[in-house]
Amino acid sequence: MKTISSKTAIVTGAGHPKGIGRAICRQLALAGVNIAALDLTDAVGLDTVAQDLESLGVKACSIECDVTSPMSISNAVEQVRRSLGPVDLLVNNAGIAAGVSDFLEIREDDWTASLAVNLLGTVNMCSAIIPNMLKQDRGVIVNIASLAGLGAIEGIPANYTASKFAVVGLTKQLALQYASQGIRVNAVCPGSITTQMYDNLMQRMSDENGISLEDAIAIESESIPLGYSANPDQIGHAVVFLASDKATYMTGVCMPVAGGMSAGL
Ligand SMILES: NC(=O)c1ccc[n+]([C@@H]2O[C@H](COP(=O)([O-])OP(=O)(O)OC[C@H]3O[C@@H](n4cnc5c(N)ncnc54)[C@H](O)[C@@H]3O)[C@@H](O)[C@H]2O)c1
Repeated sequence: MKTISSKTAIVTGAGHPKGIGRAICRQLALAGVNIAALDLTDAVGLDTVAQDLESLGVKACSIECDVTSPMSISNAVEQVRRSLGPVDLLVNNAGIAAGVSDFLEIREDDWTASLAVNLLGTVNMCSAIIPNMLKQDRGVIVNIASLAGLGAIEGIPANYTASKFAVVGLTKQLALQYASQGIRVNAVCPGSITTQMYDNLMQRMSDENGISLEDAIAIESESIPLGYSANPDQIGHAVVFLASDKATYMTGVCMPVAGGMSAGL
């Protein structure tokens, strides 16, 4: 039975074959939603996304779009409307994990980039899509924040944590503002998910602490009550739920999907 009444979704950061964005697209397509997959460049694997999704029986398109650029977003959104019609579901997934765990060693560039992509990228996408959701009197937004947006976690760069706290704050404020106008805004806060970002984090943990990669992965798994880092499809399932008609009474919720891992301080 179809549980999502949304017809067309935009998912940002959807190109990487191992990424959370790609898994979100896959799970939404399995739920019958047409998908516009956006990512910075075809080089990350974006060109194959639409074909994969169409094989699941939905309409799809892949579009290069930099979420830090309002012009790039405006062009992409116009293309989506022409190819797939009005957008009623927006998933802000694009994100970067710049920086290092020692606050004093984080470069100004890493602060700028984290805020530009993780926070302002989400702001830019919402600014482009909400006006039409208001005209339609309906819409759903799901932001991919992080468990690090709910509490400080050992080893995570302060610039990343601060940017994801900001996404959580943005989610709640937008939820409050638009609740009476038919737009729900929630966030998923992933814990440890086995993507390229996870691979890079494990390598950095290994380098910074002078331990093997295997030991870094074992330490990470031991910090998770369920005992393992999850497959990106687990985040896709959570997004499908928040987007679905089973969650119509939920807005302003920032939901950890983290195997029981604590949000920290
Ligand atoms: N992997 C984890 O353990 C984990 C944990 C918590 C939160 N997250 C969040 O989940 C989201 C997806 O992460 P992932 O692990 O799949 O990472 P990833 O690096 O595999 O994917 C991120 C995607 O975002 C894209 N992107 C980066 N900058 C962009 C820009 N300016 N415009 C458009 N796209 C851009 C990248 O090209 C990439 O395809 C991110 O927001 C991340 O912060 C991941």
